[in-house]
Amino acid sequence: MAEHTTENRAGHLRTTVHLEAGEVVALCRCFKSKQFPFCDGTHKTLESEVGPVIVHAPKETFQSTDQNN
Ligand code: FES
Repeated sequence: MAEHTTENRAGHLRTTVHLEAGEVVALCRCFKSKQFPFCDGTHKTLESEVGPVIVHAPKETFQSTDQNN
């Protein structure tokens, strides 16, 4: 099951979502979800066209080495 961590990097909050191989999650882009960073459907109550971004983790495991983004 996806988990997330949030850290303060130089005054900016950075959230990292940790996925298991083959997992699919919907990430909130409206910033109104009570389950942020995951979408809880609240965007459907807004007068906006914004919806979640769907992320698919590959079935094979991978390791990101990029820590500078
Ligand atoms: S609740 Fe924010 S995009 Fe769904």
